[in-house]
Amino acid sequence: MSGYVSKVADADGRFAYDPEEDAVWGELFARQMKFLQGRMTGQYLDGVARLGLNDRAVPQIRDIDARLAALTGAGVVGVPAIIPPAQFFDLLSLRKFPVATFLRRREDMDYIEEPDIFHEVFGHCPLLTDPDYVDFIERFGKQAVVLGKTYSWRLFRLFWFTVEFGMMRTPEGLRGYGAGIASSLSEAAHATSGKAEMLPFDLLTVLRTPYRIDIVQPVYFVIDTFAQLVRSLDGDVRATIDEAKRLGDLPARFDQAA
Ligand SMILES: [Fe+2]
Repeated sequence: MSGYVSKVADADGRFAYDPEEDAVWGELFARQMKFLQGRMTGQYLDGVARLGLNDRAVPQIRDIDARLAALTGAGVVGVPAIIPPAQFFDLLSLRKFPVATFLRRREDMDYIEEPDIFHEVFGHCPLLTDPDYVDFIERFGKQAVVLGKTYSWRLFRLFWFTVEFGMMRTPEGLRGYGAGIASSLSEAAHATSGKAEMLPFDLLTVLRTPYRIDIVQPVYFVIDTFAQLVRSLDGDVRATIDEAKRLGDLPARFDQAA
């Protein structure tokens, strides 16, 4: 076990971070920002600036929430690291992104299994400044709520291959937009190495693609715009999931037993 403990907000909604935590955040921020130039989409990089994220201190949830409310009507809610899926989907359907508030320790600088505030805020929040992206988050959450748990676990593959590990075709070349790419040096390097497999985004294919959470992704799905993601949920999603189940999973591109 990692031994991380969720932080609790004070009466003003502030979370306390000590100087070591601010220093770890600062190092992570500076390292990723340097590396992500030319690797992440312009929307993502602009979003970092629009949120006022910086290398001086761990940001406060309530400040991010206020900025997002003004920009796109999105928001963030501080939660313990893991919340039940139903609560997670409910929040997304309300344009609210759940955010774990603890920060990784220095010895976990490069990899942490549970999402911490660096992954949540630095990885996820910049794109919540984009209206189409937020519309997708809301549509995804609503769809998951309507479908219920027997379907929503499968629909989560869509979240995984977009919100967490999505890639976008831009005039400058392929760029990442997923939070798991933005918040990880090794994932960002791999996704933009030219060696990873890139497939055109297609809902049915995504729903048939298994993944592992503990390795760099062997395959990424490429979109052209965030509006394309919104449109992907226009059809009968339940029928598409049924079709994905009927056709079965595509062969895994990783060792199942590892
Ligand atoms: Fe995430």
